[in-house]
Amino acid sequence: MSLPLPPNLPNEFQNPENDSTTVTHQASFSVAFNYPVVFTSHAFALDNPALAQTLTLQEPKKRHRVLVLIDDGVATHTPWLSQQWLSYADHYSANIASAGTPIIVPGGENAKEDTALQDDLSQHIENNGIDRHSFVIAIGGGAMLDAVGLAAATAHRGVRLIRMPTTVLAQNDAGIGVKNGINRFGQKNWYGTFAPPFAVINDDQFLLTLDSDHRRAGMAEAVKVALIRDAVFFDWIEVNAQRLAAFDSKAVRYLIERCAQLHLDQITQAGDPFEKGAARPLDFGHWAAHRLEKMTKNRISHGDAVAIGIALDSRYSQLTGLLDDDSLNRIICVLTTLGFVLNDQALFERDKQGQCSVITGLDDFQRHLGGQLTITLLDTIGEGREVNHMDTNIIETALLQMQAGANP
Ligand SMILES: NC(=O)c1ccc[n+]([C@@H]2O[C@H](COP(=O)([O-])OP(=O)(O)OC[C@H]3O[C@@H](n4cnc5c(N)ncnc54)[C@H](O)[C@@H]3O)[C@@H](O)[C@H]2O)c1
Ligand SMILES: [Zn+2]
Repeated sequence: MSLPLPPNLPNEFQNPENDSTTVTHQASFSVAFNYPVVFTSHAFALDNPALAQTLTLQEPKKRHRVLVLIDDGVATHTPWLSQQWLSYADHYSANIASAGTPIIVPGGENAKEDTALQDDLSQHIENNGIDRHSFVIAIGGGAMLDAVGLAAATAHRGVRLIRMPTTVLAQNDAGIGVKNGINRFGQKNWYGTFAPPFAVINDDQFLLTLDSDHRRAGMAEAVKVALIRDAVFFDWIEVNAQRLAAFDSKAVRYLIERCAQLHLDQITQAGDPFEKGAARPLDFGHWAAHRLEKMTKNRISHGDAVAIGIALDSRYSQLTGLLDDDSLNRIICVLTTLGFVLNDQALFERDKQGQCSVITGLDDFQRHLGGQLTITLLDTIGEGREVNHMDTNIIETALLQMQAGANP
């Protein structure tokens, strides 16, 4: 004799004869992300509480354990930084417990190429007793931040990371977003995660020790985001191009802040912060850029490559009747006034079939994103347009024109 069923049993158990083998239980939840991007000067001056306040945002009364990692390029130019941090931690000792002396780690693209470094970074996190309630502060360029970001995101499934970007490109793009990654299998950022930081602190004093190449490089990302999102910002860059080329500090600070804001708007308001869709508007000019970085084994830096990619896709936009001649001229003129070289020989290298090698970048780009190829072109200055196909003959024409330095 079977026992009577309890009265409040869910429906699926009410009928024991139901022998369906497939049952779906839906898990559905969302997690809100919030992080401040602070712009300051002299972040480690004892009278500047910005960093201490940031560390205590969520748990104000606690003494937080903090491991500081410094890009070796930064350490070389700012040898007093470690001591400054220790003094800062001492001054704010009610809230900060430094996990030993800062550790200097390799910076530059090699940080993303050297697979052994990931293990070293994880080991530093482990050796210094960093858990999900303590912090890693990464001070460095975009490459080092990407590498440390991956280590922080995967240690204990994610420890708190504060990024302190030290290049123009890192302060207005690489260091403020939600991605990290290292290069694998000959591809950029093959191995990485989406992991929003706990906070970002941009200190303009770091920019003073940058060489001219790295000062210029980050400006390409500002031109990029202005072209697809903000015509007024592009006008401002155009008017101030010579001040920017001379690295006028006020102009550079405005450029960085506006560019960072436009990137953050895209991440927070465009509905796809973790890039699940095929469209990647912030990657305007990047399909060719990533290919050029790879082809030249990073001789051409990311920013310089992006400037070339912008010039190529703008010229393609003009050749396909989207962008007018005057706009193309203005874009090329701004890029060259900022100091970018747009006709690097690598752009014109051909493969065994006689096709320009850079064109393979389209396939790499699609493979990295998955789904349908989606490329951003320009309708007009300030407005991007997504397309799902690029004509290789027209790309070749654009490349030939660039090689000849032709005016539209
Ligand atoms: N995660 C993202 O969303 C994102 C976005 C854009 C770019 N990126 C990545 O960022 C990287 C490029 O970053 P980058 O342009 O900052 O260059 P970088 O990190 O390669 O640094 C360039 C060089 O400058 C040195 N350096 C850094 N700061 C310095 C300073 N203040 N003074 C003197 N030298 C300094 C570094 O040691 C390095 O040798 C690329 O790997 C790119 O893929 C990531
Ligand atoms: Zn970029």
